[in-house]
Amino acid sequence: MIKRPKLTRTGKVRKTDPRGLTRGEKFRVKTSRGRKISSVRWLQRQLNDPYVDAAHRDGYRARSAYKLLELDEKFSFLRHAKSIVDLGAAPGGWTQVALKNCGKKARVVGIDLLEVAPLDGATFLKMDFTTNEAEAKMFELLDGPVDLVLSDMAAATTGHQQTDHIRTLALVEIAFDFAKKTLGDGGNFVAKVFRGGADQELLAEMKSCFKTVRHFKPPASRAGSAETYLVAQGFKKGNV
Ligand SMILES: C[S@@+](CC[C@H](N)C(=O)[O-])C[C@H]1O[C@@H](n2cnc3c(N)ncnc32)[C@H](O)[C@@H]1O
Repeated sequence: MIKRPKLTRTGKVRKTDPRGLTRGEKFRVKTSRGRKISSVRWLQRQLNDPYVDAAHRDGYRARSAYKLLELDEKFSFLRHAKSIVDLGAAPGGWTQVALKNCGKKARVVGIDLLEVAPLDGATFLKMDFTTNEAEAKMFELLDGPVDLVLSDMAAATTGHQQTDHIRTLALVEIAFDFAKKTLGDGGNFVAKVFRGGADQELLAEMKSCFKTVRHFKPPASRAGSAETYLVAQGFKKGNV
C-alpha cells in the first residue's frame, strides 16, 4: 500500500503541514530583486507539493518515486523482477523503489548523464545512454536476461516544441531498442513519453513484441506536465 499524500485538486497542503499552514492555505514565496520569476514559481510549487513532503517523510530522493509506485500499483511489474535496468536514474528515486519492492535478490544497473549517489544493490554509470560506448558498458554489467527495463529519461527542453518532441521520442526509441536486446521472455518495459504518447509506428512495433501495451499517467505526475508513461508487459522474445 502506497502511503500517498492526501491531495486536493488544486494541490493544496494537508492540515498537518509541518510549516504550520492550515488546510487550503498555500505557502507563498516572497519575490525579491534578483530572484527570477521562474525560480520563484518552482520554489512555490515545491513547497506546496504534498509528494515532495511525502518523499522527505519516506526517505526517497525524488518525488518521482511515487510515479513508479503508482504505476506498479496499477500494473504489478516489480514484485518478481530480479534484474532491473534504470535508464535516466538520477537522483535515484526509481532505483530506491525497485530495490525495495523487487525483493532481496534484486539488482539494478542504472545510467544517467549525472552522478547518482551509491545505493546497496545498484551499479550506476555516469554516461550518455545514447552512445554506443554506454550500451556496450551496460551489456558488460548485466548478467543474463533482464526482467524489467525502466526509462524515466527526459531530454533537456529547448522550448522549441517540435525539437523537444523529436528528442524525447528518440530517447524512447533507443530505450525500446535496448529493451528488445536485453529483456528475457515475459519481461516488462516502462518508459516515459510525452504529448499524447508514443508515435504510431513505434507503438505498433511494441504491440507486436509485448502481450499488452498501455499508456497511463499516474496521479503523482503533475497535471500540467505533458508526460505520461508507456507500460509494455509480457515480452515475446521470439517475435523480435
Ligand atoms: C526525470 S529524471 C529521472 C528521475 C529518476 N527516475 C528518479 O526517480 O530519481 C530524468 C533523467 O534522465 C537523464 N537523462 C536524460 N538524457 C539522458 C541520456 N541521454 N543518458 C542518460 N541519462 C539521461 C537526466 O540526466 C535526468 O537525470
